[in-house]
Amino acid sequence: MPAIVLVGAQWGDEGKGKVTDLLGSSVDYCVRYQGGNNAGHTVVVDGESYAVHLLPSGVITPGCVPVIGNGVVVDPAVLLDEIAMLEARGVSTERLLISANAHLIAPYHATIDKVTERFLGKNQIGTTGRGIGPTYADKVNRVGVRVQDLFDPGILRQKVEGALDQKNHLLLKVYNRRAITVNEIVDGFLRYADALRPKVADTSAVLNTALDDNKVVLLEGAQATMLDVDHGTYPFVTSSNPTAGGACIGSGVGPTRIDRVVGVLKAYTTRVGAGPFPTELHDADGQHLRKVGGEYGVTTGRPRRCGWFDAVIAKYSTRINGFTDYFLTKLDVLSGFERVPICVAYDVDGVRHDEMPMTQTDFHHARPIFEYLDGWWEDISGCRSFEDLPKAAQAYVKRLEELIGAPVAGVGVGPGRDEVIAIRELVPAA
Ligand code: IMP
Repeated sequence: MPAIVLVGAQWGDEGKGKVTDLLGSSVDYCVRYQGGNNAGHTVVVDGESYAVHLLPSGVITPGCVPVIGNGVVVDPAVLLDEIAMLEARGVSTERLLISANAHLIAPYHATIDKVTERFLGKNQIGTTGRGIGPTYADKVNRVGVRVQDLFDPGILRQKVEGALDQKNHLLLKVYNRRAITVNEIVDGFLRYADALRPKVADTSAVLNTALDDNKVVLLEGAQATMLDVDHGTYPFVTSSNPTAGGACIGSGVGPTRIDRVVGVLKAYTTRVGAGPFPTELHDADGQHLRKVGGEYGVTTGRPRRCGWFDAVIAKYSTRINGFTDYFLTKLDVLSGFERVPICVAYDVDGVRHDEMPMTQTDFHHARPIFEYLDGWWEDISGCRSFEDLPKAAQAYVKRLEELIGAPVAGVGVGPGRDEVIAIRELVPAA
């Protein structure tokens, strides 16, 4: 059975957790392949809402094996807290597997994340302050500490010494902060070793064997395409590759084993943190979307910036990820507008761009060119088939499909697990 990749097609918070949950029992393994506890999935099951930041959202699904892949950066304190929170609510985390190659977030990473942002001043990225960027920087710089190092205290100390050597100079001399001792970091890490040990595995081997055995493996991206360090709105991005290519790197599953690549799209657009956002609304419509859509960050509680649907970005996202299907979320939030605008192209200094501009400078100057569709007033949360939707809502979905270049396999019409219109099966028949 092939692997399925699930990727956010905009700037994150598209509702990927809902799709994972919808796939539910058809998925045997649910894998996070990048990011860390900067993410936030809200999964609503039987009226119970669970917010997870680091664990794959499939952790809530009975029978599914949740996997933290090698491409993830793991804050062990957050991981154990999340495990404890779920266990306390009766959700078993016994099957969780963690890659031995995943990198660890240390307290110094969060410190550096925050001071770096402060020093960037008006140019700051608006990071979540969880130490994600500095941990990936250490990984690429080859001074990172990995999960497997927890089980070799000598090596752990050596690696922490190496990592802190430079950092203490930076903290003391540039940022005027106190130096961090090797002992406090090593002792802190070693406190987690026993609890994590039974869950640590060669997850690439586990996943490839599972695929050989005809199991369904869902590779779940955190953040989204426009926050990808290579393909997003750099430098206003996260430090990993949420796009489909990152799924292979971050899980150790090769591209030939992937069959479906599903993009999750919100029926409008949101973004947290700084950076360009051509369709952003600063008026009452934007406030309405934020209020009705509950657009506040799961991780930081920050209000999300809201705007109309941007088909230029969605089309770009289809290209970068090679989406085979889309899942459209939160269509219900658009009920009640007289007209619903869709951004179909940009005006950049008087020149029309139908595709994503090549340079960030142009993207920063992009003004949306809108097409206006009729709105609808009905509460659509009870619709369960495409034909149940008001004609104007159907026309909106059909127009998006034409513009974005991949079929819409499902539509979310409310926050609950069942508030979904399934149009096409996402898990291929065996
Ligand atoms: P970092 O990932 O904490 O380094 O933050 C980099 C950028 O990604 C910031 O603009 C964050 O607001 C954004 N970001 C990180 N995680 C998420 C997410 O799960 N949803 C939406 N934006 C995110």
